[in-house]
Amino acid sequence: MDRNLALETVKKHLTEHRYVHTLGVLETSLKLAQLYGADFKKTETAAIFHDYAKFRSKDEMREIVKKENLPQDLLLYGSEVLHAPVGAFLVKKEIGIYDEEVLSAIYYHTTGKGNMNTLEKVIFLADYIEPNRQFPGVEEVREEAGKNLDSACLMAVKNTINFLMRQNQKIYPLTLETYNGLMDETQVKK
Ligand SMILES: [Fe+2]
Ligand SMILES: [Fe+2]
Repeated sequence: MDRNLALETVKKHLTEHRYVHTLGVLETSLKLAQLYGADFKKTETAAIFHDYAKFRSKDEMREIVKKENLPQDLLLYGSEVLHAPVGAFLVKKEIGIYDEEVLSAIYYHTTGKGNMNTLEKVIFLADYIEPNRQFPGVEEVREEAGKNLDSACLMAVKNTINFLMRQNQKIYPLTLETYNGLMDETQVKK
């Protein structure tokens, strides 16, 4: 899909704030794709549609998880976790995007997973560091993102886990898999 048409399409599903965030993810992810070698068109599509389901009601998302056979443990978590896998499902069904790599990058953009490919890492990281994000620690991750994709993703997931624990929130198991996977990938071999 043409970039402008894709942006127009997604804009209808987002608040202004979330649309600006999406533009930030698009810009940042294309820079990361250039730096680390991900497909530009796939990066563009995944970035534009990554938060497609963000404003669906929790009930609708839960119904989709139940009916469409998504992992049922998702039902134990809130919209922050649900919107990513549900988004991948809806982008396929409603927009007609069938590229499995794009859908996977959308699916895992919040939690990550073990053994992410470059496109998945690029979208995961861009979502975390895009220029409109402002929270403690983000600047350090932005700096690292220019140097090493894996260690920047590791910093991001560590911050997320710390944040969730401080907020007394549960941690979806894939987030821990992301942490463990990136620990292995970034470990200096002795
Ligand atoms: Fe998201
Ligand atoms: Fe996002």
